[in-house]
Amino acid sequence: MTNIKRFITVMSAIGIMTSASIPAVAADELKIEHLGVNNTFVRVTGDNKYLMLPVQESNDDAKINVIVDGKIAETIYVRLAKSKTDYMVPFDLSPYKGKNVILDVVTPQGRSSVREAKEDACWKGMALVDPFEIPDTETKYRPLFHHTPLYGWMNDPNGMFYKDGVWNLYYQYNPYGSKWQNMTWAHSTSKDLVNWQHEPIAIRPDGLGSIFSGSSVIDHNNTAGFGDDAIVSLYTSAGTNQMQSLAYSRDNGKTFTTYPGNPILTLESEARDPNMFWNEDTKEWNLVLAHALDHEMLFFTSPDLKTWTLQSEFGKGIGAQGGVWECPDLFQLPVDGTNEKKWVLICNINPGGPFGGSAVQYFVGDWDGKTFKADTDANGKIPTKWLDHGKDNYALVSWSDAPDGRRTAIGWMSNWQYAADVPTTQFRSANTLPREIGLFKGDDGQIYASGVPSPELLAMRDKLVVNKSGVKLSGKPSIFALPAVNDGICEILLDLEAKENEKVSMTLSNKAGDKVDMTYSVKDHTLSFDRTKSGIVDFSENFPAVTVAPTFEQNGKVSLRIFIDRSSIELFGNDGKFSMTNLVFPNEPYSTLSVSSNGGKARITTLKIYSLKN
Ligand code: FRU
Repeated sequence: MTNIKRFITVMSAIGIMTSASIPAVAADELKIEHLGVNNTFVRVTGDNKYLMLPVQESNDDAKINVIVDGKIAETIYVRLAKSKTDYMVPFDLSPYKGKNVILDVVTPQGRSSVREAKEDACWKGMALVDPFEIPDTETKYRPLFHHTPLYGWMNDPNGMFYKDGVWNLYYQYNPYGSKWQNMTWAHSTSKDLVNWQHEPIAIRPDGLGSIFSGSSVIDHNNTAGFGDDAIVSLYTSAGTNQMQSLAYSRDNGKTFTTYPGNPILTLESEARDPNMFWNEDTKEWNLVLAHALDHEMLFFTSPDLKTWTLQSEFGKGIGAQGGVWECPDLFQLPVDGTNEKKWVLICNINPGGPFGGSAVQYFVGDWDGKTFKADTDANGKIPTKWLDHGKDNYALVSWSDAPDGRRTAIGWMSNWQYAADVPTTQFRSANTLPREIGLFKGDDGQIYASGVPSPELLAMRDKLVVNKSGVKLSGKPSIFALPAVNDGICEILLDLEAKENEKVSMTLSNKAGDKVDMTYSVKDHTLSFDRTKSGIVDFSENFPAVTVAPTFEQNGKVSLRIFIDRSSIELFGNDGKFSMTNLVFPNEPYSTLSVSSNGGKARITTLKIYSLKN
């Protein structure tokens, strides 16, 4: 399916039809009254479904109180256009059908008179429509098989759970623009982790604040009293301070009711992103909360998901400390090839990642239901470990209740250093490919986490366009064409063998002169990824970068699985022992893979390139 078709399908799936032209609506149903230099009333009457709001990204937020029958129904913040409109966002009027709605708009400062204020581009551009149409102007960088919002800003994945064959994914979302604001839990579902359906928004900001990250569980035994198998979600209410709140769903996560006793957990300092799970050994709920500014995690227990008791802390002075600790996760996994089981504590950190900005830090250790004890290295120190060695995998957390004991996880494919500046407009950010987390023992005796693409992704393979084996490598590159269809979207399977001091270079390039250089160094046991010349890189000084992963091998052999999806490259090596997720914005799709070696002894044992469909 082409991207544009998928886009329209998704719009229909949430009940929004596209139309060739926006139908005209009686002008008297939309009245704009300027009350002062920075205050305007937008009155809406009639049965219209959407009010389109013109946005200018570089402008500051206007504060809009939505007044319905004289009461403030909600408050939203929108970068209303001043001198030009970058794009439009819809404000959904359907909850207020048949009522008098006033948008009480307070625009940012910078206007000297009402006459000047009237000139703002937003007033002329506002329109009542039903249905609304958002042009998919961004086929160039909108991925084919990664989850993205239809429009607007997305950051962390939230509250994921699997039930009755459906993977539920919530996410931090701004419905009113492509920059961070108005944090809401938006919702998507998938039956195969490849095709995502957009669902109505799940949890909206309320009087306690906006809705920050959190987690969901299925309450199989009705411990909370919301019903058997109710979905119970905890999230951070971000008001003046951060506190934890609960919402539950009795319709498998489609709609949520916020708990009247919210907030359920308050502390004297900033803590967020509650992540909970049922502990079968201790028969109670466990919760990890990020004590963000203190760079530690807090652990709580509960019998009923509503009352939580603090048990311990972990993290002060341990591991990477260069930024806030956020978005925790805690789960147990078997260690590959042993009878051992270990606990993994995910502590996302921002900034302070190995290549600057955001990254997924983790610790391996033991958890007794109350305290986390991290494994130490040969020197008795707790080592810092990274789940991904790229720049664009953050806030990674896992699904609860995934089938067959799977620990399926997904991250936000961006970095707080430049997420708001990447060269897309109508939408910002995709999620990473879903991946299965495992554990393995490294040669140093340490236990590390691995990540392989979820098995469902195999179904995306379309045509085998390159199939080679035994290719001897030299200084003169061997060149292979990437699929000519679908913007070169593909999966590359590349097995290499090289000797002592060899460096094998793998370059993705296009005719526009953009290139990504990946280099395997046998001596250093590393794979590096250079995106400094990958295409558009100048939107942030932090974007051009070289990222480096340990290859976890001693024998000069690496086996790579690489996914290219328009604006991202994800690389999984040696059965997921290392992975790298990096964004790229090529001026045109990469069209060739060139492989060479400086030593003349290396060879490609096998190379397969598949075009992909979804
Ligand atoms: C991580 C984070 C979380 C917070 C959310 C707000 O990216 O800062 O800690 O809940 O984003 O959108």
